Amino acid sequence: MKVTRLPRPLLFFLSSFVVLFGVLGTILSIDFFDSGPRMSKLIPNALYLDATQPIEVRVADLLSYMTLEEKIGQMALVEKNSLEQESDIGKYYLGALLSGAGSKPEENTIEGWKEMISSFQVEAAQTRLHIPLLYGVDAIHGHAHVSGATVFPHAIGLGATHNPELVKKVARATAEEIVATGANWSFSPNLDQPKDIRWGRVYEAFSDDPALVSRLGVAYLQGLQTPAEEKSGVFVLATLKHYIGLGSMGWDTSLNKNFRIDQGVTVSNEALLRSDYLPPFSEAIEAGALSVMVGLNVWGDKGMVLQKYLLTDVLKHELEFKGFVVSDWYGVYEGRRNIFWATVSAVNAGVDMVMLPFDYKTFTRHMKWANRLGLISDERIDEAVGRILYAKFAAGLFDKTDTVSAATNISSDSHRALAREAVAQSLVLLKNEDAILPIKPNIRHIRVAGSAADNVGRQMGAWSIEWQGIEGNEVVGATSILKGIEAEVGEGTTVEYNLLGNFLDNGRKADIGIAIVGEKPYAEGWGDKEYPTLDAEDLLAIKNLQATSEKVVVIIVSGRPLLIENEVNSFAALVAAWLPGSEGSGVADVLFGRKQFTGTLPLPWPVRSEQLPITPNNDNHNDSEMLFERGFGLEK
Ligand code: BGC
Repeated sequence: MKVTRLPRPLLFFLSSFVVLFGVLGTILSIDFFDSGPRMSKLIPNALYLDATQPIEVRVADLLSYMTLEEKIGQMALVEKNSLEQESDIGKYYLGALLSGAGSKPEENTIEGWKEMISSFQVEAAQTRLHIPLLYGVDAIHGHAHVSGATVFPHAIGLGATHNPELVKKVARATAEEIVATGANWSFSPNLDQPKDIRWGRVYEAFSDDPALVSRLGVAYLQGLQTPAEEKSGVFVLATLKHYIGLGSMGWDTSLNKNFRIDQGVTVSNEALLRSDYLPPFSEAIEAGALSVMVGLNVWGDKGMVLQKYLLTDVLKHELEFKGFVVSDWYGVYEGRRNIFWATVSAVNAGVDMVMLPFDYKTFTRHMKWANRLGLISDERIDEAVGRILYAKFAAGLFDKTDTVSAATNISSDSHRALAREAVAQSLVLLKNEDAILPIKPNIRHIRVAGSAADNVGRQMGAWSIEWQGIEGNEVVGATSILKGIEAEVGEGTTVEYNLLGNFLDNGRKADIGIAIVGEKPYAEGWGDKEYPTLDAEDLLAIKNLQATSEKVVVIIVSGRPLLIENEVNSFAALVAAWLPGSEGSGVADVLFGRKQFTGTLPLPWPVRSEQLPITPNNDNHNDSEMLFERGFGLEK
């Protein structure tokens, strides 16, 4: 159907009726636009079920059978906790579900996950066209919400390795753990480029350097989406996020009153778009990416979900992206008073699938109204659904007999060994007076202190078990850094531990003190912080250790460079360990010289907050004033 644009006042007038019908409909539980009862007959010999047909043919065939309701259902991505009843999957023909961060089955085990997702798939399989669900998870550093999963270093640590082969292996192992739980879609890799360490999402990104982000982003994508030639490999649909300019929002521009920079305004700069922000996306698209998540940031004067130029003209046409565009969380509605118009505008701007954390029924109703009123054309809906189906076919969802048992390799010894290796390669040695590191085998007495020394929760950071992370060591199969150290030293060496470094020295200092300090876990805007520094307890632990040990090595476990201008001179040695994940032993491997320090900084380490953001446009920024430059790292 061709859409002729109606004048705005008339549209407004009509939409008031729509809203009125909606309210009445909701009260009386009637959908005025419902096109009748669901059909339940399977189409015999349908081309779309034939795996030998080209994907384009299968998509066109399937689309040709679909009703409006079935198409709209494909455009909905529903948070599983908001599902009123499982049967709604069939009733609303839902195309995709997700476990938002921290959203787990009642029993948080592989079995629990498998059972939950399988039963959702069974609902989808009972619909007329048998279109399988996409099930999305935030496996951003391993499938880390699952108890017992292997938790890899967060992306910033992988950035420090500068090693695409390793990153690909990490993503492959993550994909195996995802598939083992029945999920088939991951909201990763993250291609953000953080220019400001005050942002609470720095650690989710590989680097602020577009070239490194491109290299590692492509490697990660290839790890998740095993190429067809490698027949035995798993295929988990990857998502490039967040499109676009995330990491360059201005301080105190957030539209969320709880945040300072997250969900803020990115200056709309066409030159930077092309030189920095787009290349990682275009390279990953060329490498086969089939879903892109739109950021919660504002570009210039409008939210990203409304940017038709960026979503449709640039991403879909110019970059020839064949997959689908998915909105982030409540992004389509955030800050919008009229949610009907919010849906219309976002879909017309280019959003193909809408993430619906709370209410899918209103979305499906609004989509139907919008289409019947000519506000969203049939062509636009077909295009969106065609893209989603394309990705589903490419991911092999229609052709798998058993997606769950394809891989059950969760938390195997080989995954843990890989994670341990990734930790070792991610460590960056920033200072090493008198070559204290690696710690020599003849050292007899070591004292350990600090908030991150014996706390797996801190070392995993957020997006682990819970959205905002956890505290403590109650994590199946994980090893704290302290435990790694204890396992590494020989019998003749004593390791003492006290959180705050309160040791009775009896007049005799330890040979070496190791302060393992850092940040409490945080996610998204909850981690926005004007002065990211070490907290008072950790500073005290360092001081106490310095008084009771000959020399003190400081290991910072954090999601970003911290401001340590006032303390750094007193550290004999300094290591950035980022957020290493479940394998604390990887830190010990390098501290004691079993492996070498090879990591280098994936982003500059500033001296003061006033230097931020680190962009050429900031007059306060001067490269020579960084505490440590991007690329810095001593080898040992
Ligand atoms: C985040 C995304 C994430 C999504 C689903 C949002 O709050 O911005 O990165 O993928 O939630 O959990």
